[in-house]
Amino acid sequence: MLEITSRYGKSLSPSGARPDLAPGWIDRIDNPYLHGLFAPTTVEISAEALPVEGKLPRDLNGAYFRNGPNSRYAPKNRYHWFDGDGMIHAIWFEDGTARYANRWIKTWGMRKEHEAGEGIWPGVLGPFDFSLPGGPLKDTANTDLIVLDGKLLALWYESGRLYAIDPQTLQTQSIEDFDGRLKMRISAHSKTDPATGDFIFFGYGDRPPYMRYGVVRADGTIHRTEITLPGPRRPHDIGITPRYSVLHDFPVFFDPEFFKKTGKRVPLFHREVPTRYGVIPRLGTDDDVRWFEFEPCYMLHVVGCWEEGDEVVMIGCRTDDPTLKPDRRDGKIAAMLSGIKLQARLYEWRMNLATGATHERPLDDLNAEFPMINDAWLGRKNRYAYLQHIPHEIPATFEALVRYDLSDASHVRYDYGPGVFGSEAPFAARPGAAAEDDGYVLTFVTDTQDWSSRVLVFDAAHIAEGPIAQVKLPQRVPAGFHATWMPAT
Ligand SMILES: [Fe+2]
Repeated sequence: MLEITSRYGKSLSPSGARPDLAPGWIDRIDNPYLHGLFAPTTVEISAEALPVEGKLPRDLNGAYFRNGPNSRYAPKNRYHWFDGDGMIHAIWFEDGTARYANRWIKTWGMRKEHEAGEGIWPGVLGPFDFSLPGGPLKDTANTDLIVLDGKLLALWYESGRLYAIDPQTLQTQSIEDFDGRLKMRISAHSKTDPATGDFIFFGYGDRPPYMRYGVVRADGTIHRTEITLPGPRRPHDIGITPRYSVLHDFPVFFDPEFFKKTGKRVPLFHREVPTRYGVIPRLGTDDDVRWFEFEPCYMLHVVGCWEEGDEVVMIGCRTDDPTLKPDRRDGKIAAMLSGIKLQARLYEWRMNLATGATHERPLDDLNAEFPMINDAWLGRKNRYAYLQHIPHEIPATFEALVRYDLSDASHVRYDYGPGVFGSEAPFAARPGAAAEDDGYVLTFVTDTQDWSSRVLVFDAAHIAEGPIAQVKLPQRVPAGFHATWMPAT
């Protein structure tokens, strides 16, 4: 077995024990995102009547789904955390009981690799090979999950197909392309307006048009427009309000000429270039976009976005200085690790549509990301958000659940405990709830001491008091990306 030399690799495996059910090929690769908390699992299982500590609320009925990378085959190039094949872990609650299952998302690329018996596509660290079938990257659908018109869809952050997943069995069913009318790739964090059922989407790419935006209306009609950007950009999210959408253009981008020559994307922070947010009417076109300039920064995820008088307000997890700062102690993977290290804090931007005035300010200093809200408030002024606190020393691990009150940016938190790390934690509304925080918050946690995993169920209004129930899972759940809640119908 190879000695894992990176500092983070060791710290993610404090007991030194190898995670169970991990593939043997990881032992040949010195990369912390294939080991410890991040080690892929090799099995798909289903389990019913799971043991519960405490009491599951009888009005918690529905499913908690979480997506994330879980490589099936050994990587073809230097592995990046974002490269793994999408796998969904799910827990279904019904009348005080719980069942669990996990399944890979059987993407087109994954099926091709299964036929070949090995990996075909290198990951995002490149170099890109444009002669590969379907393009230089495998659409893994590993990033996001959304519920649209009763369907569960898996999305990819690089812009990909919408993979429809059976919400009862997790079987990959089909590609949702709206009867062939969609005609474009969609980015993770495209979202559904809870009031109208409109699906508001965006996609981006390395070649022109660098961004597309659109809406699938509740009646099935599709609106789509190309968005003019000065070059290839890396937007990750979008803000929506009842009348507008907010498009993102951050000054973190790669040189297209260098990319053409080497096949490698090297994103750099251009601190002399402003951040731009483009406010577009929901059914607007490129000509309707009003761009507002702000201090240079980067942001992955929006916490809340709404209209307030003449202003569009957006709150997000802002990275003040996205400069890559490789640490020489991390050797060959130093650049990759520095890119994953999330340093984000709650921040507010305001755009006045009447005067053109802007205002921006930090709201708090805690390093916190992966925000979730009560989705019924999406696009409206929400007061509460549920985030993950990230310890500064270990990239992309979630140490505590944090509940923010956006009215004064105060927060309370629940620490998962030494060596225990959480997942993005969606909100599950109590049936008939009137208050924004009347419901539950759910998260998977994994204990790196013994590789056991549980689901914690919190009363959303009382996070700091700890979970009201815990469900013991039949296997380890590796660290992952985004999650969603689908209420039972
Ligand atoms: Fe994301």
